[in-house]
Amino acid sequence: MYKTFYSLSHEPFSKEMKPSDAYLATSYREALAGLDYIKRTRGIGLFIGEPGSGKTFTLRTFKESLNPSLYHVVYFPLSTGGVMDFYRGLALGLGEEPKYRKVDLFYQIQQGIERLYTERRITPVLILDEMHLAKDAFLQDLAILFNFQMDSTNPYVLILAGLPHLQTRLRLNQHRPLNQRIIMRYQMGPLTKEEVGQYIEQRMKMAGAKIPIFTPAALEAIALQSQGWPRVINTLATTCLLYGYQMKKEQIDEEIVRMAAEEHHLY
Ligand SMILES: Nc1ncnc2c1ncn2[C@@H]1O[C@H](COP(=O)(O)OP(=O)(O)OP(=O)(O)O)[C@@H](O)[C@H]1O
Ligand SMILES: [Mg+2]
Repeated sequence: MYKTFYSLSHEPFSKEMKPSDAYLATSYREALAGLDYIKRTRGIGLFIGEPGSGKTFTLRTFKESLNPSLYHVVYFPLSTGGVMDFYRGLALGLGEEPKYRKVDLFYQIQQGIERLYTERRITPVLILDEMHLAKDAFLQDLAILFNFQMDSTNPYVLILAGLPHLQTRLRLNQHRPLNQRIIMRYQMGPLTKEEVGQYIEQRMKMAGAKIPIFTPAALEAIALQSQGWPRVINTLATTCLLYGYQMKKEQIDEEIVRMAAEEHHLY
């Protein structure tokens, strides 16, 4: 395997990565600052970005940064279940026995959130990922569910994350009630050319590489081909290592990057 050939202790571009090992790209730091802002103000935040730009990864870092004695976090990716599962799970997570009818369930959730916030001083943080998959009805429900009558303060943090067209959808007339109440918006940008090089080198070093395996020209080619999107960088760099190993090349050059990019139809 290429790991032995390049003397690496593990796969450098695998998905498993601890937040503490994250590459501190500008977009990543800005996104975390935006999430931190909504944590302090409470209310609704919108977090969008292209596929593989690092949204879920950033949300995980954010989640792990929250003190469990002050925040009750519920993370729900829409791809995994129906929205009723979400409402029921939310009620359960708030310590309630979920009611059957949706109106009762909503009332229960609102009560649970208010109680958690006012009596136990714990802020519920609800993170809904892959929200571009949400049906219109769910978006309309959210506007109702998170419409609290408390005067000055929101007793929760709600983060809606998804692909950029989520923002476009929220601009439609029927979603204005929800859209108007969004107080923080952030769109994840790509890594810059310099950042792509640093990102790859950091991951290679963490995997035990003692010398630079990607040539500067190869790093530049990956930056160009990936347009700076982390998931594409990971796939491309891994394919490069595989080709490099097959061709017994000690260093990955731009020719290998070109072959890898071709395999992934980036040309
Ligand atoms: N700052 C970073 N440091 C290290 N790795 C990162 C960083 N940002 C993103 N990644 C890596 O990029 C990959 C893609 O990120 P992620 O899955 O978070 O994208 P996404 O925006 O949620 O995509 P999708 O819209 O398809 O769900 C992840 O496997 C993650 O390991
Ligand atoms: Mg994601």
